[in-house]
Amino acid sequence: MNDVHTLRWRDEDGGSWLELLDQTLLPQQIKSLECHDVETVAEAIEMLRVRGAPAIGVAAAYGVVVGALQACALSPTAFRASIESDIERLAATRPTAVNLFWALEHMRGTLSDTAQLGDNAKVCQQLLRAAHRVCEDDKDLCRRMGEHGAELIKPESTILTHCNAGALATAGWGTALGVIYAAAAQGKQLRVFADETRPLLQGARLTAWELSQADIDVTVLCDGAAASLFAAGEIDTVIVGSDRIAANGDVANKIGTLGVAVLAHEFGVPFYVVAPTSTVDMSLPSGDLIPIEQRASTEVSEGFGRRTVPEGVKVYNPAFDVTPHHLVSAIITEHGVARAPFEPTLTAWGTAVLSQAV
Ligand code: MRU
Repeated sequence: MNDVHTLRWRDEDGGSWLELLDQTLLPQQIKSLECHDVETVAEAIEMLRVRGAPAIGVAAAYGVVVGALQACALSPTAFRASIESDIERLAATRPTAVNLFWALEHMRGTLSDTAQLGDNAKVCQQLLRAAHRVCEDDKDLCRRMGEHGAELIKPESTILTHCNAGALATAGWGTALGVIYAAAAQGKQLRVFADETRPLLQGARLTAWELSQADIDVTVLCDGAAASLFAAGEIDTVIVGSDRIAANGDVANKIGTLGVAVLAHEFGVPFYVVAPTSTVDMSLPSGDLIPIEQRASTEVSEGFGRRTVPEGVKVYNPAFDVTPHHLVSAIITEHGVARAPFEPTLTAWGTAVLSQAV
């Protein structure tokens, strides 16, 4: 990942734009997408060109700036209305990752804080500063989660992960994979098993790609092979990320995570969830209230570029599932390691607040 940027703001003589690594092309192609308008950013989020809860939040924050720059020549009233409508468009892209709504609320708050500024260009500058803050904070949070999480990893460990919660899913080195990178940097001997993560193969295409780039021993398995690995006593730790955590510690993450948690419980293996507090939604008492994104049936029926399900057969394709808190051994955030009962600790840590520096 050294020279590859999941997302970054470009500011050059010709203008300013958001650049995203198009993750749908990985691992075959490393190609960036230039986003010069809000629709391109929204489409990139919907199509998972940029994905992973924190990265979606950062992309959306920059998406607001992209839209503001485009609307800069409008009257102040029309300019503000245009930004509000951009925020609505970005909020309608994906429903589960709460980081998206958290980042957009931050941008909306910045917009309202600039109500006294008559100059649209100055408002754009403030919005850009706010988006940079979301991005820079995410890097710092990843580092802190990595440090806290690495303490839980044994000197020699075989870890199972699901989906991709790494550098491709954040502005930094990742949440779940951040823990792995931090533990590896401490000299721990790690082997990682990455579930391929049907139907879009984030584990096979993305996690395996970035771990192999980092010289971490990684093996991909079909999701259905995980049980046999646990049964063989091969896995000592499970680490995953999250898209939304309810106040009681129920965890939404990529579809299939619940199955992994059940296996971990059955085989006595710790199941760790790593996520910043911007992923915690204290307004939801439990995980059954988390909205679960349903995605196109063709992701399952034609996922490999050819039809694999008979015509006319129905498809069930939720993007996420919810792991109940009793299956979660610990939740690691930038503040530290929370264990059951989760609610008092999550409440004490409070809602994510951005740093003022940048
Ligand atoms: O549909 P995706 O690829 O956006 O799903 C991503 C996940 O489920 C990740 O595990 C989660 O967002 C955490 S990323 C740090």
